[in-house]
Amino acid sequence: MILVFGSINIDLVARVASIPRPGETVLSPGYETLFGGKGANQAIAAARASLPHRVALAGCIGDDAFGRSARDNLSRNGVVADLVANSTEPTGCAFITVDEHGENAITVASGANATLTEASIRNFAIDASTVAVFQMEVPFPGSLSVAQRVRAAGGRVVWNFAPAPSKFSEPDLSDLVNATDIFVVNEHEAIAAAALLGCETAALEEAGAHLSRTGCICVVTAGARGAFAFHPDGHHETVEAKPIRPVDTTGAGDTFVGILASSLDEGFPFTTALERACLGASLACLAHGAQTGMPTREQLGID
Ligand code: RIB
Ligand code: NA
Repeated sequence: MILVFGSINIDLVARVASIPRPGETVLSPGYETLFGGKGANQAIAAARASLPHRVALAGCIGDDAFGRSARDNLSRNGVVADLVANSTEPTGCAFITVDEHGENAITVASGANATLTEASIRNFAIDASTVAVFQMEVPFPGSLSVAQRVRAAGGRVVWNFAPAPSKFSEPDLSDLVNATDIFVVNEHEAIAAAALLGCETAALEEAGAHLSRTGCICVVTAGARGAFAFHPDGHHETVEAKPIRPVDTTGAGDTFVGILASSLDEGFPFTTALERACLGASLACLAHGAQTGMPTREQLGID
């Protein structure tokens, strides 16, 4: 079973010619209200790639219309939503601008996500078959203690260090990587994380190799260049991305993480899991919004 422990947002998305710089105002013809949040996105990507009833999401929503529609959306997509709790804070909201090249800038108002704790998984049976998935949009202490419990039970931990916090301590990152089997980062996050662990470099190969020496597999996603996996024994592998013309890259990283977790849960070899994750992330960029373009098993070629 896959347990995603993470955020649930509603995304308010405006398309612009170019993303505003500080102090600048740009006009957009309108906005869309879409489903998002890294936790919810990863859970839905995993559910679309998995056999039925394999994915549960632990998260928090507000007692409001956004929360109710986010919960319905999870259920409609085959995500078990029993561990989604109601909070007195409003449902998380992400303010997103997407430019003509599909690049984005995002501000997340955390709201209910900031109230998620370890208590939410009280009724979830963790065991050696659990694949647990974490990100950085909910409070770190709860995520860490759930991850440590999963590891202690012999399960696997996939941790997506996104968004990379602007303030994070070296001891916290050490605890995080020590509780992690597969650490997934983009180039910017790889460089930030390696620097925090004492390796100042601008080269993703060096950052990825340094992170893998902590004992986890470090996967660096690199957009059009595909993904790189650095293993603790020193070997590394590269998976190429499908060449595409992106419409909206929002949620591509989440799609990668969800499909990776799904493929590991289903017992596919690591390299196959990486290839599927890469393909899925490319396909997700062909549609507007974080979740719209996330592929199904059929689209991934899994029968
Ligand atoms: O990774 C994309 C997600 O980041 C968006 O859906 C938005 O909600 C933010 O959390
Ligand atoms: Na997309």
